[in-house]
Amino acid sequence: MDALLDITDLSVSYGPFHALGPVSLTVGAGEIVSIIGANGAGKSSLMKAIVGQAGRSEGKIVFEGEDITARTTAQIARAGIALVPEGRRLFPSLTVEENLRIGWEVGRQGAFGFDEIYALFPALAERRTLHVRHLSGGQQQMVALGRGLLANPKLLLCDEISLGLAPVVIADLYRIIPEIRDRGIGIVIVEQDITRSLAVADRFYCLLEGRVNLSGRPTNTNRDEVARHYFGM
Ligand SMILES: Nc1ncnc2c1ncn2[C@@H]1O[C@H](COP(=O)(O)OP(=O)(O)OP(=O)(O)O)[C@@H](O)[C@H]1O
Ligand SMILES: [Mg+2]
Repeated sequence: MDALLDITDLSVSYGPFHALGPVSLTVGAGEIVSIIGANGAGKSSLMKAIVGQAGRSEGKIVFEGEDITARTTAQIARAGIALVPEGRRLFPSLTVEENLRIGWEVGRQGAFGFDEIYALFPALAERRTLHVRHLSGGQQQMVALGRGLLANPKLLLCDEISLGLAPVVIADLYRIIPEIRDRGIGIVIVEQDITRSLAVADRFYCLLEGRVNLSGRPTNTNRDEVARHYFGM
């Protein structure tokens, strides 16, 4: 089966600092792939490079058989890749609906419209005219996820969507990840929480100091082995 996303020898540098790579990885349509790794391992650099937002990058990124390496972020969004960025990057003084509309405007037409997002996240439906700054952290993360989905991606990249949230809120967010996958959308989940990340993933890659040092299927991999690679022991 051809991969939805096929990355070969991708590297990212910030000035003289080499942050990532070379790494090679694939994501299939309808597959959940987890990227795990400690602070500074290069997870966000990888996500940003895929959507054309990393500092200086080298290597090759192929999406649906097309080389997108040199494309702009806007072109990549229209091709069907959406990033839910680390730290959410919302506009606090815009309303829920205005923030969601940004995803709608940069992306593609498809199954996800405003009604579908409000059905997935009823808490947002009740708050659609509220400024995002008045929302809880969990609700803000729902807006960030909803904005990504409104772009109707074929590939959704989620960078640390659970950071700083209570377990019950995290469970609520993660509830929808398999639902999205079941619509045939490829998903990349970046997490520091190994257990949560592996529980939802079909496959995983572990990053240490910018390189993949372990990959596989959670069902075939021993947790101690994952932990040792995560911490580089
Ligand atoms: N804009 C930047 N300029 C300089 N160095 C950067 C920049 N962004 C990231 N780095 C460095 O690159 C390395 C990888 O960072 P990155 O944010 O990709 O890691 P991460 O795995 O996402 O970490 P975290 O778990 O803390 O989010 C780190 O050493 C970081 O300090
Ligand atoms: Mg990060």
